[in-house]
Amino acid sequence: MPLTANRIVWLKTLIHLVSLGFAANMVWLVLSNKFGADPVDGITHYTGLAALNTLIVTMLVSPIAKYTRQGLLIRCRRVLGLYSFFWASLHLLTYLALDLTFNFSLLGTEILSRPYLTVGAVCWLLLFALSVTSFARIQRKMGAKWQKLHNWVYLVLVLAPIHFYWSSKSELLEPSLYFLLAISLLLIRWKTLKRIVLNPILKRG
Ligand code: HEM
Repeated sequence: MPLTANRIVWLKTLIHLVSLGFAANMVWLVLSNKFGADPVDGITHYTGLAALNTLIVTMLVSPIAKYTRQGLLIRCRRVLGLYSFFWASLHLLTYLALDLTFNFSLLGTEILSRPYLTVGAVCWLLLFALSVTSFARIQRKMGAKWQKLHNWVYLVLVLAPIHFYWSSKSELLEPSLYFLLAISLLLIRWKTLKRIVLNPILKRG
């Protein structure tokens, strides 16, 4: 069944409903004390995993569109990517507001002194750059530079599971699975990666 522009609108509406449903679920978990008396850890985990899961789903769109020959599916990629940034920002805000009581200088010190936070911050900054340049008008203005900038999403895909792995004190299986998933998503794009990463290095050498 070929996807039409109309069906894409429905699919995007579904993406909004599911994402807002997850946000409402988090509010309910907090209000009903399901995260315990101190919900900070629960909210940090929920928002961090939501950011990572949404990123993975975003990165699945192109291969699915390619293998099912449903080119229009690509139109859902932007909204999914923006939701990944939305969750990553809530995750950062939780840490800043509830752990550090809006102490920005402490945030800077923490990010610089704890490597897992440095990695998380790099991911957030890249997601921020990709989100603010995701508008069609900016894409047109940037020309070829736009694709170059948006290729950095591959780095976020690798770094986010590393941040997860590093932040876990005991749980290693789940972050390892995410890491393997990220590597698989990169391997699917082997030809593109070779062109944008390996070829420039080989040329220089
Ligand atoms: C400046 C940016 C960031 C900060 C300050 C930050 C901070 C944190 C903190 C404090 C934790 C909890 C560590 C613990 O359990 O003690 C954490 C875990 C995590 N973060 Fe981040 N993070 C950032 C960016 C990101 C981004 C961009 C992503 C995903 C795209 C992400 C995904 C995760 C995940 C999946 C976890 C583990 C959740 C779990 O334990 O279930 N983080 N982060």
